[in-house]
Amino acid sequence: MSNPASPPAVDVLDERSGLTFPPGFLWGAATAAYQIEGAAAEDGRAPSIWDTFSHTEGRVVAGHTGDVACDHYHRLGEDVALMAELGLKSYRFSVSWSRVQPGGRGAVNPQGLDFYRRLVDELLANGIEPWLTLYHWDLPQPLEDAGGWPVRDTAARFADYTTVMADALGDRVRYWTTLNEPWCSAFLGYGSGVHAPGRTNGADAVRAGHHLMLGHGLAVQALRAARPGAEVGVTVNLYPVDPASDTSADVDAARRIDGLANRFFLDPLLRGSYPEDLVADLSTVTDFDHVRDGDLATISTPLDLVGVNYYSRHVVAAPVEGVEADPAPSCWPGSEDVRFVTRGVPVTDMGWEIDAPGLTETLRRVHGYTDLPLYVTENGSAFVDSVVDGQVDDVDRLAYFDAHLRAAHEAIDAGVPLRGYFAWSLLDNFEWAWGYTKRFGMIHVDYDSQVRTPKSSAKWYASVIRRNGLAAQ
Ligand code: FCB
Repeated sequence: MSNPASPPAVDVLDERSGLTFPPGFLWGAATAAYQIEGAAAEDGRAPSIWDTFSHTEGRVVAGHTGDVACDHYHRLGEDVALMAELGLKSYRFSVSWSRVQPGGRGAVNPQGLDFYRRLVDELLANGIEPWLTLYHWDLPQPLEDAGGWPVRDTAARFADYTTVMADALGDRVRYWTTLNEPWCSAFLGYGSGVHAPGRTNGADAVRAGHHLMLGHGLAVQALRAARPGAEVGVTVNLYPVDPASDTSADVDAARRIDGLANRFFLDPLLRGSYPEDLVADLSTVTDFDHVRDGDLATISTPLDLVGVNYYSRHVVAAPVEGVEADPAPSCWPGSEDVRFVTRGVPVTDMGWEIDAPGLTETLRRVHGYTDLPLYVTENGSAFVDSVVDGQVDDVDRLAYFDAHLRAAHEAIDAGVPLRGYFAWSLLDNFEWAWGYTKRFGMIHVDYDSQVRTPKSSAKWYASVIRRNGLAAQ
């Protein structure tokens, strides 16, 4: 006879096994076109700003380019089979605009569309939900030649390209995100210049940020018109920003960086306005005369979901009096002299501090802006891996994922409608200005042979997906 005082065995097991995520939680992995596809000059694809940038001497470590990358363009079947082995519920990929519309406007390249049709069909055949990002940093070079994101017309071109994609794939892709991390496109691309197109002008960076968001709003409207049933969102990269001390100067430095890193995007997208303090901070950089009536209404077109990419936390301090700001071009226009402080906590191979509680904090913060479903559309870590006897035992990466999933679960417990999590990344890949020197993948890629080897973290993630949660530590 069962003892009514003891809970059913399954609950006991569940408790011991750690954390269970809500039913239907969307477990995924993410990649981006330029980072994995290769086939840079095949089947009608033309250069994007990342082709130009990576082929410019001195821009990318060791002169690496995405010409071949993971050769995913030719290995789509093998890669989707690996995803199926992992048990992924969803795969977040991006479309190379230059493959689909090589000139950035006008003529569409049918072979480019065919590749993404094949990818989507293969995913669906394997029961994997395709999650399509329209723009992951690779602007067609002809649009950069016409002025790039600092120019308003680029937003309209993005909306046209979105319509092309919605018409071609809207019948089989349910989840769409417009932009990936507009902060990086704007402030690394046009501010510090460490990303393509490598320009260094603070006002251009701010304009680019605005036109990216305008393009996003127009793209949402284009998607709605073409595919009323689509689930549409945007992905932003967010950081908690803490002051190094509680002096008012450090607190103010944190407010400034938080404005540029987070509120520059969250407020227009989710509230339809720029924060006043941010506009004041930027007054020496721009008078915002690029903002036209109606833009903020377009930018804040209602969404179905918000994607959050989370990697680390910023800790900042006020400038030291008498010490000049670093003269290198900055990705913090108007706040170039704010100091970024390290706390001495463990870091990844990128030098990014590992801070899992920051994920809980970030998700709760976004939920403070909106009741929309949230998804972690990227989270992960680079570590130096070695292949030993055909195995990669990436304990650090596995621990990073584990800690961040626990933090994500804590956000759910606190009432955040978090509906999915995408590990960055499925494969080791071209890590932008770092080339192939930084490995984020759950699957190791030998770039000479293109052999894929699932790491320990991949096997572990497969078990997380199977049990819809985490085992006890
Ligand atoms: C994010 C990017 C992604 C990858 C990770 C490490 O900022 O969206 O492409 O580079 O960082």
